[in-house]
Formats: sequence, C-alpha cells, structure tokens
Amino acid sequence: MKEIESTTYSIHIGSLQMGPFEALIKKYEHSKKVILVDENTHDACLEYLLTAFEDLTDAEIMLLPAGEENKVMEVCYQVWEAWSEYKIGRKDLIINLGGGVVTDMGGFLASIFKRGLDFINIPTSLLAMVDASVGGKTGIDLGKHKNQLGVFSNPIAVFIDPGFLHTLPDEEKWSGLAEMLKHGLILDKNHWDLVKFIDASEDIFSEEVIMHSIQLKNKVVLADFKETGERKKLNFGHTVGHAIEGFFLHDEQRILHGHAVALGMRVEAQLSCDKNLLSQEENAEIQTVIGAKYPALYHNDDLLLALFELMKNDKKNAKQEILCTLLTGIGSSVVDIPITWQEFEAAMKAVFPHD
Ligand SMILES: NC(=O)c1ccc[n+]([C@@H]2O[C@H](COP(=O)([O-])OP(=O)(O)OC[C@H]3O[C@@H](n4cnc5c(N)ncnc54)[C@H](O)[C@@H]3O)[C@@H](O)[C@H]2O)c1
Repeated sequence: MKEIESTTYSIHIGSLQMGPFEALIKKYEHSKKVILVDENTHDACLEYLLTAFEDLTDAEIMLLPAGEENKVMEVCYQVWEAWSEYKIGRKDLIINLGGGVVTDMGGFLASIFKRGLDFINIPTSLLAMVDASVGGKTGIDLGKHKNQLGVFSNPIAVFIDPGFLHTLPDEEKWSGLAEMLKHGLILDKNHWDLVKFIDASEDIFSEEVIMHSIQLKNKVVLADFKETGERKKLNFGHTVGHAIEGFFLHDEQRILHGHAVALGMRVEAQLSCDKNLLSQEENAEIQTVIGAKYPALYHNDDLLLALFELMKNDKKNAKQEILCTLLTGIGSSVVDIPITWQEFEAAMKAVFPHD
C-alpha cells in the first residue's frame, strides 16, 4: 500500500486488506464503532468491509440518505440523537464509508459531537478519493449555499481502495475527473497533459494517477492548511461552480459537484484570458478539452443574475468583492482576483449559449 503523509494523518492508497487498516481498527477493540454509509455505499461497499474485517462485525451501521440535498443539519440532528442513544463517547470510533457527502458530513458529525470523536475516512467515489480525502474540511450545506457550516478537522487516517470504483456510476467518475483536471490546471501541466486524455466511462483510474492528484493537493494543504493564501488555488472553478451547483441543488436537473466545477473552470479560464492572464491558445485548449467532456450550461439573464447573487456569498470574498482564483497558464494560478458583474456576464456569454 502506498502512503502520503498529510498534516496530522496518513492517506493510504491500495487494497484495504493490504495496509494498516486492520491494525488501526484493533486499537479500538474495546470501543464502539459506528460505520456511516449512504444508501448506495450500503449496497455497494459495506459488505466487503464487514466480511474482510471481523473486528467490524459488531459495528453499528448508520444509513444516511444519499445525495448532496441531504448534506444538511436536519440529517445531522438525527445522527447526533442516535449517537446519544447509543451512548457513543470520546473513546469510540466513526468510520465514514462513502463519497464526499458522507466523508464531509461524517467528519463534521464526529468533530462536533462531544467536542470531537476519532474518525476514519474511506472514500468510495473518485471525487472523494482525489479531493475530499485531503485538507481537513468537514461540513454541510445551508439552503443553496454550499458548505456554509463546517470546521477544519482531520481524520485519524484515510484509506483509498480504488477497488471501490468498480461500482461507481460513470457520471460520478466524470465528476471526480473534473477535480483531477483542476489539479493539473492550477499546479502541474504534466498532470493536465495526462488526465486530459482520460475517458472516465472507459478508462481505469490507476493507483498512480489517483495518488499523483492527491499529492498535488496535499502539497498545497501542507503549505497553507487554513486557506489564507496558496490553498485558495484549489478554489479554481469553484466560485462559479459552487453557484451553479447551489442554484440547481433542489432542482430536477441537479448538476453534480464535479460537473459544476468543470463548467466553473471554463468560465474562470475565460475570465483569466479576458484579463490577459492566460493566453488565448491555452484558453482555447481548456475550452475544447472540458467542453468535449462536460455538457454546456444554457443560460438566460435571470440565471446569470441568480448565479452572481450566489457568488456574492462565497466564503473567499473580502471587502464586498467577489474574489476568484484564475490561471496564469496551464499549470499555474493566482488567487484573490476581483471579478465584476460585467466581466462575469461577458465570460459566461463567451463560453456558453445564451437565450
Ligand atoms: N472536504 C473537501 O475538501 C471536499 C472536496 C471536494 C468535494 N467535497 C464535497 O464532496 C461532495 C461531493 O462528493 P461526491 O461526488 O463523492 O458525492 P456523493 O457523496 O454524493 O457521492 C456520489 C454518488 O455516488 C455514490 N457512491 C459513492 N461511492 C460509490 C461506490 N463505490 N459505488 C456506488 N455508488 C457510490 C453515492 O452514494 C452518491 O450517490 C460535495 O458535497 C462536495 O462539497 C469536499
């Protein structure tokens, strides 16, 4: 099993049965163990865990409703009440087995309950493996605002077993691929040149490519855990992307996180180009690569205004300004660039069809 050292914990990559997972669980022999799953990871991933590790046979299984629309306080209350009933205490262990919703919300649940329980993340979606696995961000949404409530809190360990990806739906693989593309765009042209050719529906995601994507993010997180500078680079595509994801959160045509980030990256690459930070050739390459992988966003004046309103509530803003991470080339980026309504409107219209 490969290992990446992060801030206070390690991320282990490879077959779960080959690494230190079993030994770690044994340390909690006399503690209660709770495994959080959602409906899909309950069906697709839980059985493997329970049959492979006999120390988990007496674990409490807690089923969360699947999907971003359930990453909310109402669900948290129910879980905390159940933990109180089970008399879960400081010495007990929470295992989050799922995508980013389960690991974000499970981490938040564990960090708040009785001022903090130990938790292990076992990300089962590509997005949770390459992105949510590192950086200590836990949290939930509030209305249309993504990740509005949360705390920085680290798991005691993360275990990434790419075997879980076999059951992951293709659209979720595309969602995860968007974050890998982002890591290349903001930090490493070689990584972009590798992942831009990946067809998420056909290709297998190797341990190596997953690991490299995590390493890129980890380097940034190690340099700036609390996101005061360098770490803001990871928000590329997310100022616009979060607004798109939030707007459609309760809509029938919900847009997955990574798909929204992919759309956001196209707009923010265009903004980079419009502000003469990124060359036209590199912008054209980004538009072509991402445009071929993710469907465009058809918009009208009302949608543009609504998205801009949501962007005003972005956590990264300061002094009433919308601040964006933009590209200075493929593989390099710059943070805290103010964006005006006129610039946003022009970039959206340049990139996507407008009614
Ligand atoms: N903490 C961070 O740094 C960070 C970084 C990026 C994203 N996120 C958060 O992560 C969330 C998105 O994560 P996500 O895309 O994993 O969403 P998700 O947790 O909703 O998972 C996507 C879907 O795939 C299913 N699934 C997961 N693993 C599966 C498997 N192995 N087999 C079958 N189905 C499986 C889930 O049940 C769900 O339906 C967002 O809430 C986002 O804000 C957090």
